[in-house]
Amino acid sequence: MQRSLLTAFVALLPVVFAIPATPVADANLPGSTANVAGLHAIARAAGKLYLGTATDNNELTNTQYTAILEAPNMFGQITAENSMKWDATEPEQGVFTFTLADQIANLATSHGQLLRGHNCVWHQQLPSWVTAGNFNANQLTSIIQNHCGTLVGRYAGRVCTYSWDVVNEPLNDDGSFRSDVFFNTLGENYIPIALRTAKAADPHAKVYINDFNIEGLGAKATAMKNLVRTLKSQGVPIDGIGLQSHFIVGEVPTTLVQNMQEFVALGVEVAITELDIRMTLPETAALLEQQKQDYQTVISACQAVQGCVGITLWDFTDKFSFIPSTFPGQGAACPWDQNLVRKPAFDGIVAGF
Ligand code: XIL
Repeated sequence: MQRSLLTAFVALLPVVFAIPATPVADANLPGSTANVAGLHAIARAAGKLYLGTATDNNELTNTQYTAILEAPNMFGQITAENSMKWDATEPEQGVFTFTLADQIANLATSHGQLLRGHNCVWHQQLPSWVTAGNFNANQLTSIIQNHCGTLVGRYAGRVCTYSWDVVNEPLNDDGSFRSDVFFNTLGENYIPIALRTAKAADPHAKVYINDFNIEGLGAKATAMKNLVRTLKSQGVPIDGIGLQSHFIVGEVPTTLVQNMQEFVALGVEVAITELDIRMTLPETAALLEQQKQDYQTVISACQAVQGCVGITLWDFTDKFSFIPSTFPGQGAACPWDQNLVRKPAFDGIVAGF
């Protein structure tokens, strides 16, 4: 077929077959130009274990969303955004509810995706029976052991289970330990208690500590490295450090690579576990371009460090991002927009590998 005829034929396709035009949030804003099938496939080709995303149960009824979530080679790893947390899995003492958590684990299994369990012990989304129970050290130790052991044990032995964020956000920004019911009752001992329990419940899962503001060099990252050293010297299992990476456009730390290398030198792997890069709204072409550069910077930093095993987006679309509700006035943090259209940030991820 001659080129002009072919062009005319292609141009007529939407008319003849009523293919809907791609939705765009704002026709003046740039979109993605990368023509690739899947981000996970690119990550694998670049030598990483996975590129994944967080997801939540209430999002799974949106078929436009699940078509991307389940697209072959787009996401090779899933994190439950909420449904494996303490309030969701043990809302009353000793009463475990796994319906929503199982739905996420089964989703990963059925699509051949890895699962990062999230999380066992965290100061948020904790039921009041834990925070207000006035438990002594022995009682709280048993409570942690029962919770982590049952939760991690539930997904042990499944092909999908790769790792667990066993301890989430244990440190303050100045590097001191966060004051919460666990630290206030047990001191820093709650960390080995949780890590040992998780490892015993699933010896094949990598056990992680996960935190924010430890992505670049600084007091908090130094404190986390000291914690890794201490745990290792005590023979406590610790396989990885999760760098949450909730970044701000234009403010991505410049020391990502050196910082990751310093963690890896201690004998742990690292992962980018909750990546999003937010901006003050409204989004503009300039902010989206900077965001593209920032995504590229983060991906290429992980790419530069062999011990950085993979990257997880903290959901992939602005439609379901937690940013606007947590940081009022900010948003547009994900690589897909509200209408599930790829943004320049998508190209930034592709370019980063
Ligand atoms: C957030 C979820 O995205 C929200 O839906 C929920 O309301 C609050 O928690 N660090 C973490 C995640 O480790 O568990 C948090 O997830 C975001 C910050």
